[in-house]
Amino acid sequence: MKSHYCGQITSKNVDEEVTICGWVHKRRDHGGVIFIDLRDISGICQVVVNPDQSSIFKLAESVRNEYVLQVKGKIVNRSQETINKNMFTGEIELIATNLVILSKAKTPAFPIDGYVDVNEDVRLKNRFLDLRRTETSERLLKRSKITAIVRDFLQNNGFNEIETPILTKATPEGARDYVLPSRVQPGSFFALPQSPQLFKQLLMIGGFDRYYQIAKCFRDEDLRADRQPEFTQIDIEASFIEESEIIRLSEELIKLLIESFSDHKLEPFPTLSWDDSMERYGCDKPDLRIPLELKEIADFVVDEEFKVFSDPAKDQDSRVVALKLINGNSLSRNKIDEYTKFVSKLGAKGLAYIKVNDVNDLENGLQSPILKFLKPETISSIINELEVDSDDLIFFGAGKKEVVNLTMSSLIKKLGEDLDMYQKEWAPCWIVDFPMFEKNKEGNLTSLHHPFTLPKCSIEELEASPESAYAYAYDIVLNGYEIGGGSLRVFDSEMQKRILNLLSIDDEEAANKFGFLLNALESGCPPHGGIAFGLDRIVMLLTHTTNIRDVIAFPKTQSATCLLTDAPSQVSDQQLDELHIESTFKEE
Ligand code: AMO
Ligand code: AMP
Repeated sequence: MKSHYCGQITSKNVDEEVTICGWVHKRRDHGGVIFIDLRDISGICQVVVNPDQSSIFKLAESVRNEYVLQVKGKIVNRSQETINKNMFTGEIELIATNLVILSKAKTPAFPIDGYVDVNEDVRLKNRFLDLRRTETSERLLKRSKITAIVRDFLQNNGFNEIETPILTKATPEGARDYVLPSRVQPGSFFALPQSPQLFKQLLMIGGFDRYYQIAKCFRDEDLRADRQPEFTQIDIEASFIEESEIIRLSEELIKLLIESFSDHKLEPFPTLSWDDSMERYGCDKPDLRIPLELKEIADFVVDEEFKVFSDPAKDQDSRVVALKLINGNSLSRNKIDEYTKFVSKLGAKGLAYIKVNDVNDLENGLQSPILKFLKPETISSIINELEVDSDDLIFFGAGKKEVVNLTMSSLIKKLGEDLDMYQKEWAPCWIVDFPMFEKNKEGNLTSLHHPFTLPKCSIEELEASPESAYAYAYDIVLNGYEIGGGSLRVFDSEMQKRILNLLSIDDEEAANKFGFLLNALESGCPPHGGIAFGLDRIVMLLTHTTNIRDVIAFPKTQSATCLLTDAPSQVSDQQLDELHIESTFKEE
């Protein structure tokens, strides 16, 4: 139907007869000549329809934006004054000799040409139109290049792509499952996989020692800008492999991806222990582009009368931290109030600060609502500890560890963004030595990674002191986003059973839910481990957006619905009957 892509024709094609197909991006009538910008996935070509071509001229007059055309004609150089240097095809135009309207279009819900801001809901409802916008299509084309590079890299490193089931049993990764009723097994349900975790382990037991899959995963969890209920992992597993080798390979892959799309050469990625990361950044996904760190100051304030600081300083589950902002003195009172509101919304009780006007005059050179509560020696020690200079500002966070960590790590990210403190374009890092478990609100142990992660101690030590045990688990973080995570796995059935027991899964429930795994672990299991990258998040970062929906062709909204198809939707009573399901939902 066509000989060329619209966007690829250049002066090299001058004098050639070509046929192109595409959408009418814009039509302009210029004193008897009609210009049509014809667009396909590759770009735009200017078509000229002269009035002497009377049969097609009439047709050209009738075309509207987004009509689909086939145009035949000859490529010519544009006259000097009409050359458009901003367009790849800006030096040429196509003089039409034939034109066919392949398909008409109603007026689009929003303009495809130009960069008009269109409400996201409208774009999602009409995603097929949104996909025509260069902004969106370029992201998806890049996504395709990224997966091609990933496949190529893994194939070259001896990994085999193997598919695992979507209709399966629950795989715990910390979210709720999407469940699907079975028609033929009344009362039974499949779960959609939260990840291919258990199947990739079974593949190792099955002898495939290097597996990968670009895998769809499903998690029913609270959605955020970097989370979708249905997302894609680059899922990897290998046998007879050490943690260091998985880290080396993964780093090579991420380096390759970043360097394929920018001129940056990356240094080896820094490694932080989980404890270190929590202490210095208050989170396990620090944005190392931002040169801000927390300093523990509990020891300095433990004996102060100011209970806001001294109470948490005395409590094991709390912390008191200081955050130095170089030249932060210029922050206005309003701005500081704004940051105080920001951390309060996240649960902090306040945000103390000291403005240091003159570091050599601690009597008159400081400005702060908390000066009157602290001894001058204490302030002086804190200033020394933080190596504060004149014109700096110190923020303080005090309270329960979870609250201080959440609020102060969020404050670091906000300050970084507001004050444009980014020191480099790409700041990857590894977080290693995760604790095995954490306690949830109900006081029960839960896995930080997942229950199949290998502890760094014996099972007896783990049982004696589960909360202080560490795991062979690692995350990779890029610019403050967790882009991947993995671990070495438990490969002994007895250890696996006892870890499940620690997670309050008794033997009966373990046999019920994970019997197939425990059985396989008893059948000759190689030591193994792996990692999974969040493909959507990687594409999001490489296409410089902060919204994961921008890099998914048909994404869901924050409320996990598809505006385009109106899914999820109701099904007929007959379907429910067949599935032996009765809904208890009552419409208000
Ligand atoms: P984890 O749960 O850390 O590990 O997931 C791996 C990576 O997947 C991405 N990710 C998501 N991306 C978008 N939307 C979501 N809802 C979402 N949830 C996770 C993140 C994350 O780092 N089976 C283990 C991996 C392993 O141990 O090998 C797992 O799934 O980038
Ligand atoms: P208050 O005694 O509550 O008026 O607080 C005195 C100062 O300490 C104010 O500047 C508060 O913003 C700050 N502040 C109060 N609670 C905290 C906290 N948990 N962490 C840091 N600063 C706090």
